Formats: sequence, structure tokens, C-alpha cells
Amino acid sequence: MSVHSRKEDHVRIALQEDVRFRRKRTSFDDWEFVYNALPEIDVAEISTQTPFLGTTLKLPLMITGMTGGYPDATRINGDLAEACQDLGIAMGVGSMRACLESAEHRESFTVVKQFSHNVPILANIGAVQAVRWKRAGILDRMVEAAIEMVGASALALHLNPLQELTQPEGEPEYRGVTGAIAWLVEHSPVPVVVKEVGAGISMNVAQRLAGVGVEMIDVAGAGGTSWSAVEIMRHPTPDQVDHLWDVGIPTAEALVQCRGIVPTLIASGGISNGVDIAKAVALGANLAGAARPLLLAHHAGGTAAILQLVRSWELQIRQMMFLSGSGSLEQLRTTENMICLH
Ligand SMILES: Cc1cc2nc3c(=O)[nH]c(=O)nc-3n(C[C@H](O)[C@H](O)[C@H](O)COP(=O)(O)O)c2cc1C
Repeated sequence: MSVHSRKEDHVRIALQEDVRFRRKRTSFDDWEFVYNALPEIDVAEISTQTPFLGTTLKLPLMITGMTGGYPDATRINGDLAEACQDLGIAMGVGSMRACLESAEHRESFTVVKQFSHNVPILANIGAVQAVRWKRAGILDRMVEAAIEMVGASALALHLNPLQELTQPEGEPEYRGVTGAIAWLVEHSPVPVVVKEVGAGISMNVAQRLAGVGVEMIDVAGAGGTSWSAVEIMRHPTPDQVDHLWDVGIPTAEALVQCRGIVPTLIASGGISNGVDIAKAVALGANLAGAARPLLLAHHAGGTAAILQLVRSWELQIRQMMFLSGSGSLEQLRTTENMICLH
């Protein structure tokens, strides 16, 4: 199967099947805001603005990388980019491998440039490809092409060993990845964000990433979309991999493990409302990210449905900020705001 049609498969399965974790949750439910009966603030004063990649986001949120590389992805990425521009939030595109290795369907990525004027776009490549391209001496060329294709302010590199292991055509070959990341940090013309795809980043991994100069990590933890679930559904012998469905570090746990290690931390994986976003910031994230919930909203009602959903999340963020007496996200990001229930 070509990479182009695999990307189409992923979106179809994510839309049609229940690919959430079976038993595992994000663990945000283990945390609660300390109710502040004396907030000394008016709701109208609350600011949800946050600096990110040289711009100011209106909300601490991004749509994390999902798609591109097949015909219908042009419509999806265009709509997502339009929604992000309207909302003043950042956007990642899906893995750009297929369109870097062949010239087909590049418009499914370049389309975001039509809509994004002052919000950051993140290009996306995978760890395994980065190693291959580095060995072939073409990583610099691929990175420059990826950045140019979407007008990227940052390059997201995804770590996905679990997905590579469960994917029927997967390549579970991670030798050399740390060196490729170090090379990227040194040579990429834009900052590098290292992300998982829904199985989480641990303290140890974050420390090793920081050790090679990574300054931005998206923990992309467990509790939302299970990427092994998506691949198990595509597997010819699913019984061999079914026990991997729920593997991963819950997002809130990954966040707590990684905080303080890098200057910019993104919390994604199972973010499904504004309370999760507020809790993520209060636990140390600079911003949160969401993927499948926004793809589902888009499928149900296009750009308007994304705007409606994210505006309801904004209201919830503001409510939690008021009830914890936080006028700004910096104030929200103090651990005294949170108690762990377990
Ligand atoms: C349809 C779909 C395709 C995805 N493709 C990519 C990808 O190409 N590159 C990547 O880094 N992450 C990809 N992801 C992972 C998301 O960025 C995110 O890390 C993960 O889905 C967990 O977030 P969620 O629980 O909000 O969906 C994809 C997610 C979805 C739903």
C-alpha cells in the first residue's frame, strides 16, 4: 500500500471507528482545581493569550498534525487552517513524507498557506524517515522542502515506536533517532518540536531530548486516540497486536513527568474540553493540543463546527481561570492551583 493511501486509511478509520483507548484515560480526572472563594479578579479581565513561536496565540491551543498527502486532505487541511486562523491558534499538518518523496498531492499541504497569515504552522516528519534521510545525506533538503511547503514556523518530529510496531507495513527501526534529532536541532532553520502520537513521553525520554538540545516537546499522551487501535484495525492478524491497544503514558502523568525539563511543553492526547486545557496549563503546559476531536467536529459540520467547539472550550478555560483567581495563563500555571485526588 502506498503512503498516500495509508494516510487516507488513517483518516477514514479515525472518523468511522472507535479508536479511543479502551480502559486508559488521560488522568486529568485525577486532578482538580483548588476552588478559590476570593479570586480578586473580574471575568472580563481574564486573558487567555499565550506566546508561541514568535506570535501570540489567542488561546493556549493547537490542532496537532493529522493529515495531508491524498486528494481529500486538501479540503481538510484548508478547513483546519481557516479555523485556526479565525481562532488565533496554531496548527500542525500530518506527516509530509509522501509528498517529500513524490510530487503528488502537494496541494494538500500548500493549501494551508492560503489561510494561515499570522498563526504558526508546524511541518511534520517521522523519526524513522529522519534517520533514513540523514543516512542518505538528504535530510537538510527534505527539511527545507517541508518547511517551504507549508510556510512552517516549526518542524514537528514524531516519535511513534508503538505505531511502527503495530502497523502492518511498520518499520520499528529506532537506532539512530537521537542522533538525527540532535542533527535537526542544530541544522533546522526553524525550531524543532518533538512529539509522540498518543502514547506519551516520559521524564527519561524528555531528559534525553533536552540533552541533545530539544527545547519544545509535545507529550502527546494516552487517553485519547490510540494509534495502536488504528493500526490494529488495519492489521491482517490483529490477534498478534491486540494487547498493545492501551499501551502508553496517560497525558496528565506524562505532563507532570516532563514539566521543568524543556522551556516549551505542549500537552496533547485526549484533550476533549476547556477544563482539560486549563488543567494542562495549570500542570505546567504552555499550551494544549487536540487532533481527533477536531477532525470529528470538522466531519460533522465543517469549519463552523470547529469554531463552535473551540469557542465552548474557550469559555470553559475562562471559567476555570476565574474560579482559580488566574488573570493570565502565567498565573494559572502555578501548582498551588491544583490538588491531586489520588
Ligand atoms: C487521523 C489522524 C492522523 C494523524 N496523523 C499524524 C501524523 O501524520 N503525524 C503526527 O505527528 N501525528 C499524527 N496524528 C497524531 C495526533 O497528532 C495526536 O498526537 C494524537 O491523535 C493524539 O491526540 P488526540 O487524542 O487529540 O487525537 C494523527 C492523528 C489522527 C487522528
